[in-house]
Amino acid sequence: MDLLEAIKQRKSTRAFLQKEVPKELLEQIIFFATRAPSAINLQPWEFVIVSGQERERLSRILVKRMKERNISCGPDAKAPLPDRFLERQRGLMRSMLPHLPEGVDFQDFINEGSCNFYGAPSGMIVLIDRIFSSSRLMDVGISISYLLLSAHALGLGTCPIGLITAFDDDIREFLNIPDEKKVVLAIAVGYPDPSAQINRVRSNRVSPEQVTRWWS
Ligand SMILES: Cc1cc2nc3c(=O)[nH]c(=O)nc-3n(C[C@H](O)[C@H](O)[C@H](O)COP(=O)(O)O)c2cc1C
Repeated sequence: MDLLEAIKQRKSTRAFLQKEVPKELLEQIIFFATRAPSAINLQPWEFVIVSGQERERLSRILVKRMKERNISCGPDAKAPLPDRFLERQRGLMRSMLPHLPEGVDFQDFINEGSCNFYGAPSGMIVLIDRIFSSSRLMDVGISISYLLLSAHALGLGTCPIGLITAFDDDIREFLNIPDEKKVVLAIAVGYPDPSAQINRVRSNRVSPEQVTRWWS
């Protein structure tokens, strides 16, 4: 699949086949992620891959913590969001609701699903050194885009999971990650389950005109 097609088609996967992803394929998408540009070539990203039973063991800890601390997916904004953003968030909920398993609450699905990496056989934990300011998250984000698109082009499904950054301390302890590194994002990685309703969800986008201003 070419890059433009991957950009058009990619969407988050929230149900996976119980089929292990070969290590070579995971290595390949990390290779593509590390081709990303970065300010003065600092390449401030690092990846920890947790698979199989260890991924499940980590998820049990995260689900427990999520319930203890009553953590929920949110925008992490500094002030209440203006309507135009709230509408985009509501749009996501509207596009997902018809595809949720019977009787499952939207927020519970997202919160518990996120901690469970939506059942993916592998999870990637993306790290940055604490020495860097938040500006360098830009570079890590670009690298993650490369990873998501190359995974899609290679037939894998992914879901970025920001929720679990609330459990930075637990994740670092479980994966033996040194204090000087910070968890930026997790990514569920596996083969999409083609029979799962939830994988039919297509999230909306505002039109390019709404977010573009031309000046000449
Ligand atoms: C930084 C970031 C954090 C995200 N965190 C979560 C998350 O914790 N749980 C989840 O289910 N989806 C999460 N997502 C996925 C978004 O909900 C999804 O990308 C968005 O709704 C657009 O849908 P699409 O990826 O299918 O195009 C996250 C995406 C990004 C980029």
